[in-house]
Amino acid sequence: MDHFEYRDGVLHAEDVPLPAIAQAVGTPVYVYARATLTRHARVFRDALAVLPRVKIAFAVKSNPNLAVLRVLAAEGYGADVVSGGELERALAAGMAADGIVFSGVGKTEAEMRRALEAGIGQFNLESEEEGLELAALGASMGTVAPAALRVNPDVDAGTHGKISTGKAENKFGVPFDRAGAIYARLAETPGIAMRGLALHIGSQLAKLEPLEQAFTKVGGLMRAIRAAGHAVTHMDLGGGVGVPYREGEVFPQPADYAAMVERVTRDWDVTLMFEPGRVITGNTGVLVTRVVRVKEGASHPWVVVDAAMNDLARPALYDAWHDFAAVTPDGERFTANIVGPICESSDTFAMARDIDRVTRGDLAVFRTAGAYGATMANTYNSRPLVPEVMVDEGRWAVVADRIDPATILAAERVPDFLKG
Ligand code: LLP
Repeated sequence: MDHFEYRDGVLHAEDVPLPAIAQAVGTPVYVYARATLTRHARVFRDALAVLPRVKIAFAVKSNPNLAVLRVLAAEGYGADVVSGGELERALAAGMAADGIVFSGVGKTEAEMRRALEAGIGQFNLESEEEGLELAALGASMGTVAPAALRVNPDVDAGTHGKISTGKAENKFGVPFDRAGAIYARLAETPGIAMRGLALHIGSQLAKLEPLEQAFTKVGGLMRAIRAAGHAVTHMDLGGGVGVPYREGEVFPQPADYAAMVERVTRDWDVTLMFEPGRVITGNTGVLVTRVVRVKEGASHPWVVVDAAMNDLARPALYDAWHDFAAVTPDGERFTANIVGPICESSDTFAMARDIDRVTRGDLAVFRTAGAYGATMANTYNSRPLVPEVMVDEGRWAVVADRIDPATILAAERVPDFLKG
């Protein structure tokens, strides 16, 4: 459920009509409903309350906007970060350092040092090499780095290949059959305190079975590690729960997920950690766009909108579907292709889709754009960097400015050797 609904024929975000925001800020613009964000954060957190000891680290990558992080910090969320930049955002939003988990295959020494100085709660190690580097750093700084070992369970998540992370051929984690030995070696290394295992098999999972299979497999590994005499007090089950992008699609609910986790982990006796991203932020945002013109096509008209693949990359990257809806629909429908202005054919949001009839100047939205939307935007074709707005009941504010091409141009230099 979200808070983007029609009132008197006009699409609103909570109590604010979207044309008011489009008028004031221009388009394209991302609009987030704070009420939806809070609701999703609470539904997920409350569902997991059936488990004894839980820590939730929001996957910052899904929506790193400072205002979004601030809302989640107030809901008691920690953060799953994958770069020094995300770490600084989580801290700036007021998230407690010990609620921060640092994931990612390529943490640099400088990033690990900063995270140690900040006192983060856990490093999710992606390799033995990384563990040894972190241990050396910890020892040299006179501290001990709390760490979990990310295991690659070699389970097919059944999602798009580009967002699958738990198969043996993916770069993530250590191979399942070597994990026990690596854990044992790191557990005996000074400067690091091994406290558990971590996994994350992919994103936008439509079914719980692959997760259950992976959790069961890693639970067995946990028992083997304990049997070898090592402590395991934390198990990080990652993120990945998918959300419906098309009207009518049915996805597992947080309560179903929690019930499955409860069944699988009943006798684990650990603190369970979670790294949800999309399930929290996906439905909290829409991308508002304006129709530039409708161009005649060979079989269907081309609806050319002012948003493009640089603003919302998911369709171009993953063939992702985002529902398209007119902000003031007239009740008529037509079949059309929806494209942006960028000069390549991947700048296509939909082909031969049955949509609200729109015409030049109309406003429309791409729905379910709160996760992996603005954060993946760029300035390709020297377009502006898309702004973000947050609505709270009848109030709204710009929470990220549009960055104009002139600002980007001002950061570029013509070197002396090209002058004269
Ligand atoms: N934890 C780790 C270690 C991750 O790599 C990810 C996502 C998450 C948690 C959060 O996953 P979620 O709950 O959001 O599924 N740009 C792609 C998605 C990439 C996901 C990368 N990792 C998209 O637009 O679909």
